[in-house]
Amino acid sequence: MGRDVIVACDFSGKEEVVRFLEQFRDRKPFVKIGMELFYAEGPDIVRTIKSMGHKIFLDLKLHDIPNTVKKSMAVLSRLQVDMCNVHAAGTKAMMQAAMEGLKTAEGERPLLIAVTQLTSTGEAIMQQELLIGHPIDETVMHYARNTMQSGLDGVVCSPLEAGKVHEACGAGFLTITPGVRFADGDVGDQKRVTTPARAKELGSDFIVVGRPITQAEDPVAAYLRCVEEFIG
Ligand code: C5P
Repeated sequence: MGRDVIVACDFSGKEEVVRFLEQFRDRKPFVKIGMELFYAEGPDIVRTIKSMGHKIFLDLKLHDIPNTVKKSMAVLSRLQVDMCNVHAAGTKAMMQAAMEGLKTAEGERPLLIAVTQLTSTGEAIMQQELLIGHPIDETVMHYARNTMQSGLDGVVCSPLEAGKVHEACGAGFLTITPGVRFADGDVGDQKRVTTPARAKELGSDFIVVGRPITQAEDPVAAYLRCVEEFIG
C-alpha cells in the first residue's frame, strides 16, 4: 500500500458520515473510523463505508491483556478493514498477540500499527503522574522500537518524528501522522502542525487529516489539494 491521505471521519452518526462521503465520486478517500462513530453505530458502519468503495483505518486503539486483544483482533479481522491499531503501552506480548489474532487462514490481514504516547500526554504528566522517568522523545522512540520488534507495521506519530522513527526502525516501517494543516488554514486545537507537502518531505507514509477536509466549504477540493501536495 503506497503513500496515502486518510480522512478522519470524526462524525457522530451514520447519516452524517454517509452524506459527507457521498460527495466523493471519482476518487474515494481512505477513511478513518474512530471510537465515537464505531461505538455509536457498531460494526455495520464499517460494512456501510466499505460498500461505498473506501479503504478503512479502524482507529480503536486496543489496550488489554494479550488474550483479550488477540480474540478482539480476530473479530475485527473479519470486518476486513485495511488498517487497525493498539497501544504500544500494552507491551510487546500484547502487540504480538494482536498480530496473531489478525492473521487469517488465507494469510491476509490489515496493517497493524501502534500508538506510542498520546499527544495529549505531555512530558510532565508522563513523568509525574505515570511515573515514566524518561524524556518523552526517548519514550516515544523506545515504544516505536518495541512495536517494530513485535512485528507490527508502523506507528502513529507526528510528521516531525517520522524521520527519526524511520532511522530507528527502518524505511519500510510505516509512519501514520496526524497534525496536518494547509499553510493558509486554521490550526484549531492541534499544537505542532505541518502542511501535507512538508509531511511528504519529512517522510510520512500516511497523513491523517480531519477538519481541514471535513469542515471545508468544498471537502472534495480540500481532499484533492491534500492528495496533490502529499502524493503529487
Ligand atoms: O481534525 P484533525 O485533522 O485535527 O483530526 C486529526 C485526527 O487524528 C483526529 O481523528 C484525531 O483524533 C487523530 N489523532 C491526532 N493526534 C494523535 C492521534 C490521533 O490528532 N496523536
